[in-house]
Amino acid sequence: MIAPGSCIGIIGGGQLARMMILEGRKMGYRFIVVDPSEQCASAAIVDELIIDKWSSLNAALTLAKKCDVVTVDTEHVPWQSIQAMEEITHVFPSSMVLKNIQDRLAQRQFLQNQSIPQTAFYNVESLDDIHAAMDEMGLPCVLKTKTSGYDGKGQSVIRELEDALFAWEKIGRLPAIIEKFVDFQDEVSVIIARTKVACKVQVSIYPIAKNLHYKHILHKTVVPSGYDGRIEEKCKALAMQVVDAFDYIGVMGIEMFVTKDGEVLVNELAPRTHNSGHFTYGGCMTSQFEQHIRAVTGQALGATTLLSPIVMVNLLGDLWDDGIDFSKLVQTPHTTLHLYGKTPPQKGRKMGHFTVFDAEVEKASAIADDLYNEL
Ligand SMILES: Nc1ncnc2c1ncn2[C@@H]1O[C@H](COP(=O)(O)OP(=O)(O)O)[C@@H](O)[C@H]1O
Ligand SMILES: [Mg+2]
Repeated sequence: MIAPGSCIGIIGGGQLARMMILEGRKMGYRFIVVDPSEQCASAAIVDELIIDKWSSLNAALTLAKKCDVVTVDTEHVPWQSIQAMEEITHVFPSSMVLKNIQDRLAQRQFLQNQSIPQTAFYNVESLDDIHAAMDEMGLPCVLKTKTSGYDGKGQSVIRELEDALFAWEKIGRLPAIIEKFVDFQDEVSVIIARTKVACKVQVSIYPIAKNLHYKHILHKTVVPSGYDGRIEEKCKALAMQVVDAFDYIGVMGIEMFVTKDGEVLVNELAPRTHNSGHFTYGGCMTSQFEQHIRAVTGQALGATTLLSPIVMVNLLGDLWDDGIDFSKLVQTPHTTLHLYGKTPPQKGRKMGHFTVFDAEVEKASAIADDLYNEL
């Protein structure tokens, strides 16, 4: 157990770190963050900021020496840095987890070894590989760089045979995977936490969330998802299988597709708190951020009970283009605005989010749409 009062290190000082710190401070922990920017989202609320790249081994070692446990707000921290820190302190996620997740091919192979349902995929190192895969799978397909992708970056959809070269160029001819495009009914996600308290495993799962993406970036999360118990249980069982396979400690966000014939396919694993879990911050008895702090410090997990139907909407930098006015939003009952304190508000950059509660989820959704359109 890492007692309250101890120091927690985080590599990456973005909004996920910021919300972990806000929740962790309330629990009595201190925080040191590594981030390249003095103006990162965590800067204003952290005990100490180490200005360096996430990939810096030096910074990782300095952090490990100062902290009782280290975690991350991005899965792109090199697993080699995590491995080096493991010699010094507790680190979650482990280097084994990151090694198997930060490379998309390794991630797909890991899921395949666990017989977890997912879309068909192939390794891509050349244009010939893309053509061979298209022959096997048919169209459309999605080309994704093996590493460093997020929010749809490093991805390209191939709809026609002639698009292959363009797609390959678009991702910079980098090592990639190609996947069969899933004609899904919905995207859903599972936020799951796993820890060990006195060597006994504890797992807790939030209600599954239905997610709407716009241009490959999460736009809106709706909970409850509207899916019946059968789909909900299927998603949760897959999530359990994933965290057990990794002997995972912490919160993991797992993105899934529900197909038109009621199959569930795993799309992507995020070994950290997840954007689609922001509804838990205010919407559940324990937020995903508090839950992660509990998990990595060896505390018992908190209750995941949903307090009310809730809708979460992301606020991207694009909205700031012509100035932004939150007056209607903050004057609407049962609505909560979260801003991450990021500057400047660039296109596609996640600046904040808001949540809307209502006894009827459809009503919460309609109010959220209205408020978003107003912005
Ligand atoms: N194989 C696929 N079939 C259909 N849509 C996909 C597929 N892969 C990705 N997408 C779409 O693109 C979004 C982002 O892709 P994802 O693989 O989750 O990468 P990241 O979130 O790291 O950018 C997904 O949420 C989904 O909307
Ligand atoms: Mg994703």
